[in-house]
Amino acid sequence: MSYTKRNDGRKFDETREIKAEVGVIKNADGSAKFQIGKTIAIAAVYGPRNLYPKFLQNPEKGMLRCNYNMLSFSVDERIRPGPSRRSKEISLVTERALSPAVDLSTFTNAVVDVFVEIIQADAGTRCAGICAASMALADAGIPMRDLVAAVSVGKVGDKLVVDLNKLEEDYEGGATDVPIAVLPRNGEISLLQMDGEMEVKEIKEALEIGKKACEKIAEIQRKALKEKYKGD
Ligand code: CDP
Repeated sequence: MSYTKRNDGRKFDETREIKAEVGVIKNADGSAKFQIGKTIAIAAVYGPRNLYPKFLQNPEKGMLRCNYNMLSFSVDERIRPGPSRRSKEISLVTERALSPAVDLSTFTNAVVDVFVEIIQADAGTRCAGICAASMALADAGIPMRDLVAAVSVGKVGDKLVVDLNKLEEDYEGGATDVPIAVLPRNGEISLLQMDGEMEVKEIKEALEIGKKACEKIAEIQRKALKEKYKGD
């Protein structure tokens, strides 16, 4: 089925409007809010702090521990509170997407906790969470090699698109969703998942479109960080 025009009028390689802010939770060591269209993620970072139980401590490197959660009221149909298979999977992929950017050797025996809360969801929440979390880690002063920018790319009907919204994910003619995370400085991909089907050629093309979008996202992330620290 041909998808000739996006349901919200965007160009096929255009993300939804993005807003980013750092330092939104005063009690946390670092925090950030990342909004893309109607999807809103908040991330709070605590640590480095001593890791308990002690047998989990590693004298060679610290631990990055991520927890992703979607709040009950984030979608129209109430979500049951508490961990689910989905939230556990997304917590794990968030951790893996962020790890290559964080210098774990600088906080041996310790843990850095990253909490991601999705307060409003309209698809792309794991990517928004990763964007917020990497800004919150930087805000907490955790040594990092780069920020991590994430976006979903994919195919709606017969068209490659960037940043699918929920209506596009549910497109009747079929949709494929490929969330990616990128370390923009060297182009390393630290998250690549796929829900649906695409030809290899299409995946390669989608990755190129996604990487370009991530470069733009990284600029917005950096600008938000600079905004908070410009007076210091
Ligand atoms: O959010 P993301 O695209 O990373 O993950 P997903 O599992 O593909 O979920 C896609 C979207 O489905 C979410 O962003 C929500 O808008 C919606 N969803 C929902 O309405 N209820 C759930 N229990 C899970 C997801």
